[in-house]
Amino acid sequence: MGRLVEVRNLTKKYCEGTVESRVVDNVNLEVDEREFVVIMGASGSGKTSLLHLLAGIDDFDEGIIRYKDSDLGRMSERAKTVFRRRNIGLVFQQYCLIPDLTVYENIMLPVMLEGKRKEEKKAAKDMILNLCRQLGLEKHIGKYPSQLSGGQQQRAAILRAVVNNPALLLCDEPTGSLNSAQADIVMKLLYVLNKKGQTIILVTHDIKVAVRGRRIVYIKDGRIGGELNFSEMQSGRAEPKEIYRHREDELMSFLKKRGW
Ligand SMILES: Nc1ncnc2c1ncn2[C@@H]1O[C@H](COP(=O)(O)OP(=O)(O)OP(=O)(O)O)[C@@H](O)[C@H]1O
Ligand SMILES: [Mg+2]
Repeated sequence: MGRLVEVRNLTKKYCEGTVESRVVDNVNLEVDEREFVVIMGASGSGKTSLLHLLAGIDDFDEGIIRYKDSDLGRMSERAKTVFRRRNIGLVFQQYCLIPDLTVYENIMLPVMLEGKRKEEKKAAKDMILNLCRQLGLEKHIGKYPSQLSGGQQQRAAILRAVVNNPALLLCDEPTGSLNSAQADIVMKLLYVLNKKGQTIILVTHDIKVAVRGRRIVYIKDGRIGGELNFSEMQSGRAEPKEIYRHREDELMSFLKKRGW
């Protein structure tokens, strides 16, 4: 397993008048290919800011973000857009669906932007229909975002992020608007994608969601405030519930020590 992304001394500042706040403050992080990393931390601790920097949709003030041989800080805006389109799927906390496009058109958009061949588009269409069925969106495929509930928009946003099979999936509270049954379906989908080789970095406040990852990174005031690595899952059993329960206890004690 090689290194997918390396973050060194990453800092993002906002200035309001003479007051400067570091929303991402000297962060160092390495994520290997095929990892499933979960980011946790209080509201306002900088989780979304960090994901947006990793996705290259926001600029940083100091430090380095390096994807294999690609140094994000040295890329032009155009190069970053192309890099993101080819390599990264981002599920926004606020969904960010395009209001003038239907659910299907929103999900298909990354495929169209890639200018894929006819047979690839057909394969993507079949995949979308299948995933919409899995996530209970099949009745809503022709609707516009304004006609959907928050949970339906969130599921559409997840499908838009995964449709191009990106090497890296960045998910910002992807189950925040879902009930526990829907969240379970989404987490199972992410589990399968991760097993097939996609690297996942997921932000959540939900302990039950967090234990689906293998490694927890805790953020406090823009800084890394600790890491927890769960032990290997038992082989041969897809989702052993006892292991998740054990992890929940481990995670609660890790978080409590950090003022959760
Ligand atoms: N454009 C901006 N200008 C000034 N401050 C900002 C801006 N965007 C974010 N911030 C500040 O950066 C800090 C981190 O915000 P961020 O959205 O990353 O938090 P978060 O950990 O994702 O929180 P939540 O769990 O509520 O989603 C917050 O204090 C926020 O007010
Ligand atoms: Mg956030």
